[in-house]
Amino acid sequence: MSVESVRGTTVVIHFDNQRCIHSRHCVLDRPDVFVPNVAGEWIYPDRATPAEVLELAHNCPSGAIRCAGADGAQMESAPLVNTVRVRENGPLAFRAPISIDGSGQGYRVTLCRCGASTHKPYCDGSHTAAGFVASGEPAPVEEQRSVNLAAPDNVSSSAGAP
Ligand code: SF4
Ligand code: FES
Repeated sequence: MSVESVRGTTVVIHFDNQRCIHSRHCVLDRPDVFVPNVAGEWIYPDRATPAEVLELAHNCPSGAIRCAGADGAQMESAPLVNTVRVRENGPLAFRAPISIDGSGQGYRVTLCRCGASTHKPYCDGSHTAAGFVASGEPAPVEEQRSVNLAAPDNVSSSAGAP
């Protein structure tokens, strides 16, 4: 069982450790709510307001952290614009209503692009140990760039003065 659910007075926080990519937004933003480096209990929903818990969930790129009302009410909602971002040396990060194999995955997910995840299609943070290096940006082509930059001068000189 990889999903840990911690119930507070008004909010339930769900944490799926197999989805966590160890970006550390949670423990750096609110170490009182997500207490790092402790054995046993480490999630404390009542140390934040429901709005703050929702913001923490939305800032978790992998969807490892999700939240709902203690009464079962839905708190999270779809983004206004669906996006996918290439994380440097890491996964693809989606923000959208996501379904995989017909199963709803919430509104955030990070999918492996290094091939080393033990929990595909999800990134499980293995890209770090695998030494995966890929910015997602096209490699610069310096020669082509210098030709393109030189083109206006060439055109001007060949056309001659009026
Ligand atoms: S992926 Fe989510 S749960 Fe994992 S460290 Fe980052 S913010 Fe925390
Ligand atoms: S990109 Fe993270 S495990 Fe592959």
